Amino acid sequence: MLKVLVAAYLLCAISVFTVAIDAGWVTYDQLSGKPYQVGYDSRAFTINGKRTILLAAVIHYPRSTPIQWRDLFKKAKENGMNLIQTYVFWNAHEKVRGQEYDFSFNNDVFKFLDIAREEGLFVNLRLGPYVCAEWTYGGLPLWLQQIEGLKLRTTNAPWQKEMARFTTDISRLIEPYLARNGGPIIMSQIENEINWSDEYVDWCGAFSANLKLDIPFLMCGGKSANGTVNAANSCNGVDEGYTSRHVRDHPNQPLAMTENEAWFQRWGKYQGYRSTENLAYSVAGWIAAGGSYHAYYMWHGGNNYGITASASTTTNYANDANLYSDGTRNEPKYSHCGFMHKIAIKYSSVLLGQDIAVAKRLPWWDPSTSSWRNGTSQQVYEYGSGDNKVTFLYSSATSTVALLYNNKNITMSKKSIKVLVGRDDQLVYDTSIVKEYPKMVEKDVVNKLEWSAWSEPLGSLQQVVASRTIPFLVSGKLLEQLNVTGEDTHRMWYRAQVSVPSAEVSKLSFNGMAANAYLVFIDGEYIGQVYDIEVRGTRNYKLEFKTNKNSYILEILSVSYGQHNEVYPDTRETKGVIGDLIINGKDVGKSVTTWVHQKKLAGEYLKIYQESNRDLVHWDNQLEKFKNKALTWYTAKFNVPQKVSAQAVTNPVLVKVDAGTLNRGHIYVNGFDLGMYYTILGKCVGTYPCSVIDKSMCDQPSQTSYHIPPEFVKENGNIISIIEEQGGLIDNVKIVRKE
Ligand SMILES: *[C@@H]1O[C@H](CO)[C@@H](O)[C@H](O)[C@H]1NC(C)=O
Ligand SMILES: *[C@@H]1O[C@H](CO)[C@@H](O)[C@H](O)[C@H]1NC(C)=O
Ligand SMILES: *[C@@H]1O[C@H](CO)[C@@H](O)[C@H](O)[C@H]1NC(C)=O
Ligand SMILES: *[C@@H]1O[C@H](CO)[C@@H](O)[C@H](O)[C@H]1NC(C)=O
Ligand SMILES: *[C@@H]1O[C@H](CO)[C@@H](O)[C@H](O)[C@H]1NC(C)=O
Repeated sequence: MLKVLVAAYLLCAISVFTVAIDAGWVTYDQLSGKPYQVGYDSRAFTINGKRTILLAAVIHYPRSTPIQWRDLFKKAKENGMNLIQTYVFWNAHEKVRGQEYDFSFNNDVFKFLDIAREEGLFVNLRLGPYVCAEWTYGGLPLWLQQIEGLKLRTTNAPWQKEMARFTTDISRLIEPYLARNGGPIIMSQIENEINWSDEYVDWCGAFSANLKLDIPFLMCGGKSANGTVNAANSCNGVDEGYTSRHVRDHPNQPLAMTENEAWFQRWGKYQGYRSTENLAYSVAGWIAAGGSYHAYYMWHGGNNYGITASASTTTNYANDANLYSDGTRNEPKYSHCGFMHKIAIKYSSVLLGQDIAVAKRLPWWDPSTSSWRNGTSQQVYEYGSGDNKVTFLYSSATSTVALLYNNKNITMSKKSIKVLVGRDDQLVYDTSIVKEYPKMVEKDVVNKLEWSAWSEPLGSLQQVVASRTIPFLVSGKLLEQLNVTGEDTHRMWYRAQVSVPSAEVSKLSFNGMAANAYLVFIDGEYIGQVYDIEVRGTRNYKLEFKTNKNSYILEILSVSYGQHNEVYPDTRETKGVIGDLIINGKDVGKSVTTWVHQKKLAGEYLKIYQESNRDLVHWDNQLEKFKNKALTWYTAKFNVPQKVSAQAVTNPVLVKVDAGTLNRGHIYVNGFDLGMYYTILGKCVGTYPCSVIDKSMCDQPSQTSYHIPPEFVKENGNIISIIEEQGGLIDNVKIVRKE
């Protein structure tokens, strides 16, 4: 009896449903690898003509590693995502102009696509080639700066030629992964966050159409060309007015948000966190107001390995995203948003089976007058009807408020949304009600590391190590750093024999220098550093020191913090000793005519962090000799229990460098550069966007744990190597894992 009733009810529900519009939830694995078509209408993107919601996890392939990719994709699928979104990173693939593209290891975008295919996920592969992304130089190769007459990201023949060459090459290589060949790629993006030059924007639109990939192209966070879909990039597409502008200006396009920002961390600033409530509010609001494509930027931020971070961005990227940078779930954010995804999926045919619901204002209870009042901060979006009704009650008020809906007095938390379903408005989701989840903690996995140390040789114009002279370049004047180093290293030495007037206290002025760190040595003795991790422009620095000599070897190690990621047509990056260098009033930069330039430290050049080269230098285990000694390398061997190496994806292994240990440098594990570590304290000044407000980490290091990709955690014979620039204490550097 009961069964019959249920069947009748279902039939009835289906007949209500059988409207002309084919809409619902489409996943890549439903397509069984057969060629299919991608399109869009005013409401949604379509797969073989069927509207679908697209829930996207943004994961940048070079910010994680192949073993991680599969785990990240599985977590995305489990969390209700059907789409992976990534940029293509030009400067990761073509470091040197015209060289064969590097698609090795975590640059292997094809393997990334293969794994997405295997895990049943669509891909939005954003070609850029400008990507911004807090990635050094916004993903553009530095060598573009050397091309005569080139202006970046505008109507300029040399630029258009280079960007067209790269994007066309990638477009040809991804052919098997396109929808028309049954692959997972359903869309792409040309350019990014551009708000100048209609002429160039239109050229980009025409160019992307000429690639003939048979997939929609998006343009995000600014202008968009005819034929491309304008997409949002912000913290809240509804409250910031994007949804209403888009419906007005692009009535034939779906509402796509390619970047709902988790925000990211900067060296020397507090660790900002976006609350789970605020993120969920923006996601539910986006869907309520008609959004059919939503992407978490980032969903997994990952790590800026090596020297890939943009100026002053921490090594972990967007660590407060739904997954932490080490790939573990960031609870309650991961699960709380996951519940919302499941509701959107369940009701996707109701939501997309009609036009965007018109927002209806609701009265709110004014306690001061004890009456219901009309306002502008409470509204309702209603989709479907009867048992298939989905209702979003929306309050953008900044404090708790009661509203009146269907004669019910309903209390809403500040900036929150309630989702009600069915004819009796059953509450299924409240963005402001967040459950608690157990947190993973870091535990030591290696009892004690047995370190030994070696310091860079100092105090001469040339370095000779292991009977090799480290290559150098002599010039009559100081050379700009990037012009010598390219994207090979962040460090360059400037050395000279200088004669200067003596003084009781000598004064060294750096005028008009880069945002950079400069470590200064006099006859091999470290006298200190000047630095500025701000991102743009030039600045002056001063350093005082004492010496009774008036002729000595001056050595300056210039350390770049990376290139800025915001790139405009005339952007030119410069690093190193670029301005005037004055000692006790004498312009030594100009008066000295023999400058010895050396890119990389000796240990860096010799790659002593690799097992095969480790014995090129003499390691000393009397650590007290190296306490607070600038430019010291440390190395240790360690083993971990089999369980630790086998589970390094789900229980990540990290190197912990906390305040009071080292200062700044790079960590290598089994030859892989984990990126820059820096124990600079995060000042609680300034604000981050996106309601990122938690200042609980004031005056603590901006980052203390550095992720070791699972590929580099072996059971036996691991080698950790560290180069500490300013000098510090190695004693409390630890290897931990999350449990
Ligand atoms: C373009 O966007 C940038 C960054 O958001 C902003 O500072 C600038 O004023 C905008 N320019 C124009 C012409 O809209
Ligand atoms: C884009 O579309 C607008 C409106 O139809 C039109 O005025 C403009 O010329 C188009 N631009 C290009 C480059 O086709
Ligand atoms: C609120 O708006 C409704 C519908 O627009 C209107 O009928 C009502 O009079 C308004 N109430 C007040 C107190 O202004
Ligand atoms: C509506 O709810 C609010 C908050 O609970 C309460 O203060 C108010 O008196 C209620 N108004 C009515 C008309 O019930
Ligand atoms: C340095 O600049 C010169 C002259 O502009 C150029 O020829 C050379 O390729 C540059 N080197 C690098 C590494 O960028």
